[in-house]
Amino acid sequence: MIILNNQSDVKSNLVNKKNLALIPTMGNLHAGHISLIEKAKNYAGTIIVSIFVNPIQFNSQNDLKNYPRTLTKDIEILNKLGVDILFNPSEKDIYPSKPKLSYTLPPLAKQLCGASRPGHFEGVIMIIDKLFGLFKPDHVFFGKKDYQQLILIKQFISDKNYQICFHSVETVREQNSLALSSRNSLLKSKAKVIASTLFETLKDAIVELKKFHDINLAELFAVKKLTSLGWAVDYVEIRRQADLLKPSTSDENLVILGAANYENVRLIDNIEFCTDGTI
Ligand code: PAF
Repeated sequence: MIILNNQSDVKSNLVNKKNLALIPTMGNLHAGHISLIEKAKNYAGTIIVSIFVNPIQFNSQNDLKNYPRTLTKDIEILNKLGVDILFNPSEKDIYPSKPKLSYTLPPLAKQLCGASRPGHFEGVIMIIDKLFGLFKPDHVFFGKKDYQQLILIKQFISDKNYQICFHSVETVREQNSLALSSRNSLLKSKAKVIASTLFETLKDAIVELKKFHDINLAELFAVKKLTSLGWAVDYVEIRRQADLLKPSTSDENLVILGAANYENVRLIDNIEFCTDGTI
């Protein structure tokens, strides 16, 4: 595997490389990332993984400082998977001066996770824009665990008319259903057991919705249940899968999304589901 630490080395290393897949990450690789890479192998001739803990998408310095960094182990994983290129730049290389984004994000960027993490999605789109411009990938792969990020990047690709094939990949879970996330390593082992109640509660809320046909009631049910289990809930909302707008009565393909803190670790999860148009 070629390891590139500077944007200036990228161009020469892409000569004669065709059908590129890019998998942007912030490292601390786990089975969720591995599933993105495995899927990419079915579509592309050259697999590029980026590892960059993007400071401008963090809302708190503490969160940025505590973000798990495991580069040596990550390189071992990527080598075993047969990844062609690892892009692991420094902050100075990516942001030599204060970055400016020439793209207006849709209102969705300020809702859900964006409401409590101002500027987060602007930071995500900024690095994604740089990576897309640098590698000009044919395919990109993102996990459904970060559903709002996935929708915003998909819209960004379409708004900017990038000729990139976007792939979304199912969330990988622990045996107890906890969605894999780099942040899970910040949980103590007892908290890891409780953390699986986020997924279970979202699942139960879908059952409530199908029983009572009332979105507000189902969301409230989930918030109350999580709070009683010791979570500090940020939001639980039911939205449309396609664009994360609020559903109308005729929408059938929905997703329930939740974000909550347990012992100061912020976790998110979501479940896609279908109704028969009776909500
Ligand atoms: O999902 C992530 O790990 C990050 O938000 C991403 C897409 C790599 C951008 O920094």
